[in-house]
Amino acid sequence: MRDHSLFHQRRLLLLFLLITLTQLCPKAESAACHVDDESGLLGFKSAITADPSGLIASWKRGTNCCTWHGIICRDGTRVTSISISGHPGPGKPNKSLSGVISSSLTKVKFLEGIYFRDLHHLTGPFPDILFVLPNIKYVYIEGCKLSGPIPKSIGNLTRLRALSLARNRFTGPIPSSISKLTQLTQLNLAGNLLTGTVPAGIQHLHKLTLLSLDGNKLSGPIPNFFRTFSNLRILRLQHNKFTGEIPTSIEPLAPNLAFLDLGHNLLTGKIPDFLGKFKALDALILAHNNLSGTVPKSFANLTKIFNLDLAHNNLVDPFPELNVKGIESLDLSYNKFHLNKIPKWVISSPIIFSLKLAKCGLKIRLDHFNPSETYFYEIIDLSENKICGSPVTLLNRMDYLVSFKASGNKLRFNLESLRIVNTLKELDLSRNLVFGKVPKAVSALDRLNVSYNHLHGAIPASATKVPVSSFVGNDGLCGAPLPPCK
Ligand SMILES: *[C@@H]1O[C@H](CO)[C@@H](O)[C@H](O)[C@H]1NC(C)=O
Ligand SMILES: *[C@@H]1O[C@H](CO)[C@@H](O)[C@H](O)[C@H]1NC(C)=O
Ligand SMILES: *[C@@H]1O[C@H](CO)[C@@H](O)[C@H](O)[C@H]1NC(C)=O
Ligand SMILES: *[C@@H]1O[C@H](CO)[C@@H](O)[C@H](O)[C@H]1NC(C)=O
Ligand SMILES: *[C@@H]1O[C@H](CO)[C@@H](O)[C@H](O)[C@H]1NC(C)=O
Repeated sequence: MRDHSLFHQRRLLLLFLLITLTQLCPKAESAACHVDDESGLLGFKSAITADPSGLIASWKRGTNCCTWHGIICRDGTRVTSISISGHPGPGKPNKSLSGVISSSLTKVKFLEGIYFRDLHHLTGPFPDILFVLPNIKYVYIEGCKLSGPIPKSIGNLTRLRALSLARNRFTGPIPSSISKLTQLTQLNLAGNLLTGTVPAGIQHLHKLTLLSLDGNKLSGPIPNFFRTFSNLRILRLQHNKFTGEIPTSIEPLAPNLAFLDLGHNLLTGKIPDFLGKFKALDALILAHNNLSGTVPKSFANLTKIFNLDLAHNNLVDPFPELNVKGIESLDLSYNKFHLNKIPKWVISSPIIFSLKLAKCGLKIRLDHFNPSETYFYEIIDLSENKICGSPVTLLNRMDYLVSFKASGNKLRFNLESLRIVNTLKELDLSRNLVFGKVPKAVSALDRLNVSYNHLHGAIPASATKVPVSSFVGNDGLCGAPLPPCK
């Protein structure tokens, strides 16, 4: 399946997997499992009130528990890992478990890893079993519905190598005792309802390769404490309420950091020069903050960057010339740039799939925008510029386009000459000089806006569900949702 817009998620996922897989060592052998393990697992099962898709249906008394779904044993007898996922993969239906995590899991004494992912209806507080299991090292309880505070005693879990409680409903602050978990290589508390500031003690977690605190309600400054994190590859702090500047202490992360997302916060000040030294950086997302000043010239050295998102800040000209080999996704929209032209390094990129340059002061004739490769293009947003001419030649080269937005320009072309590919879901041409009739093919779109143009004739009957505001302001359009044709 062609699915290029997932490049980054995939890249990130791969990074996670590489780190995670090295910690799993599946070994299923034939001897029967230990009686305590069987009893502990069956106790877990009895606290599950619904298993509609039979995720743990194979867990049956008297059968070898090392062969049960999701169970991994060492030496064919002792259970070392439980791995149950409710999200088997794209295209396959989701599964879920309802119930709570039973304390009888503490009988499974050799348990080293718990991997519960996307079980959606698994509820209850922070699992106390973690305090009792003597060998537990890897805990991934993600996409479930655990709630309540993260206990202060979390600092007791000093043997943990990885802890993810991502996408649950934990509330309250991150306990400062978390600083004692110095063996952690991954800490992921993303997608909860955590509040307060980031405890300074996190700086003691020297071994972290991944720190994800995104999608919470954390506030205060981003702590100036990254100097000690020489192994950090992924730093995700986006979608919080962080204030202040991008801390200077992230500079030492330059050799290894591959992914930096500080977007959707309340950050101010300039983009620091030293970010240009982050040669391993693959994705840099600073969007939706209040950053000001220019983009540093040093960005010319970010030759490996695939995903650059600086949208919705207060950045000003001049935008530096970059030396990227192939950008995949670029968003510079809604700053104070006057780029005039689409940068050369964008036009020459062989793998770009998402280009967003809304309100970037572009003054081009769209017919002259002739990217060297169009195969991967899925998303284009050129809204609110001074672009004239016609997008027809460009768009008719793109076989897999999903979204084209160019509202508030001076595009002048016959809408009927635009090829509407099967993949197209969104077309916004509002406030231009588009003429001709509305083609029937637009009814396949999820979102259409051709308001304030010079279209005429009857709106195709198949497009009557489109909101009226998508058609108003044309010279001669008629028919539902507008008034009937005469
Ligand atoms: C399945 O779960 C995933 C991850 O939680 C979610 O993104 C997706 O929308 C779900 N799909 C369906 C069909 O519910
Ligand atoms: C954490 O450790 C302290 C000190 O050893 C102990 O008193 C406390 O009971 C432990 N808490 C839990 C939940 O295990
Ligand atoms: C963003 O920063 C500018 C100064 O650079 C300031 O005038 C403006 O109020 C800030 N906006 C927000 C939403 O904080
Ligand atoms: C790029 O890196 C080189 C070597 O580290 C440095 O000398 C040069 O000044 C940098 N370029 C910019 C524009 O910062
Ligand atoms: C269509 O665009 C106009 C002008 O840009 C806007 O006011 C209107 O809300 C849009 N309608 C829809 C349905 O997007």
